[in-house]
Amino acid sequence: MECAPTTYWDSPYCGAQPKLSLHFVRKRDFLSILQNVSINLENPTDETMENRLELTNDSTEENVAELSAALKNLKPEEKILIKAKGDFDAVMTPFQNQNWGKYDWLPLSISSEEWSGYLIAKPGGFTSIVQIMESHHKHCDSTYVHAENVLGEGKNDLGKELMRSFIWNMELHFAREETILFPAFEEKTGMTSGPTQVMRVEHEQIRGVLKEVSDCLNEGNWQRIFDLSEAMLILIAQHNSKEENVLYPATDKYLDREADDIARKLQLLKQI
Ligand SMILES: [Fe+2]
Ligand SMILES: [Fe+2]
Repeated sequence: MECAPTTYWDSPYCGAQPKLSLHFVRKRDFLSILQNVSINLENPTDETMENRLELTNDSTEENVAELSAALKNLKPEEKILIKAKGDFDAVMTPFQNQNWGKYDWLPLSISSEEWSGYLIAKPGGFTSIVQIMESHHKHCDSTYVHAENVLGEGKNDLGKELMRSFIWNMELHFAREETILFPAFEEKTGMTSGPTQVMRVEHEQIRGVLKEVSDCLNEGNWQRIFDLSEAMLILIAQHNSKEENVLYPATDKYLDREADDIARKLQLLKQI
């Protein structure tokens, strides 16, 4: 079913069947659903993990070449954890130019000094806004679930690191939408007070909960984070569902040839 952008937003799922009916899903079931559909994030500090690459070459060109070679060696859907020091753009921009469409990039953190994340082989093609943004939704979900599990196991340092990565990724995701995707949609359709505005309001609601989670993290109050998680995950899932089922496909469609350029920018935005 196709819905006009002016009418679909009042209905949460545009009249179509949602991918997940979350209203009656208990938290335990919800988390297991997320884990089943997630990319199963590995422990970023687990020394036993096999697929990892630290870029340590002096020259940017060598780092780009090493990253491209690593991608070529991956099987379809296989992932590798990348860690690097220095400027993210200097490596990832030429890497994207050389390998666009053959991989997915899911960051864990990006600062001015160092950056890390997962590179996943996508030989079947990976260039649409839907693919890139939906994958990042799942990455945020997976990072949260991993963080909560690790905190629940009493591994506080790693749990805090993962929870901070979740919050950072959510902020990065909102920045991708509010500074690149939504303006592109609004410019193309002329709709500045429609679905993108609704999404911005929902971002603020989610940001309120993320701020609380961040405060709890600073205070070491894990139990409060666990108490907040069910409502937060449902809020995020409902928001993501609207974007994945309607806004992202509509943006791919309306932007047409420009969608490729926007997808490239979305993938490499950093939030420092
Ligand atoms: Fe959003
Ligand atoms: Fe989103």
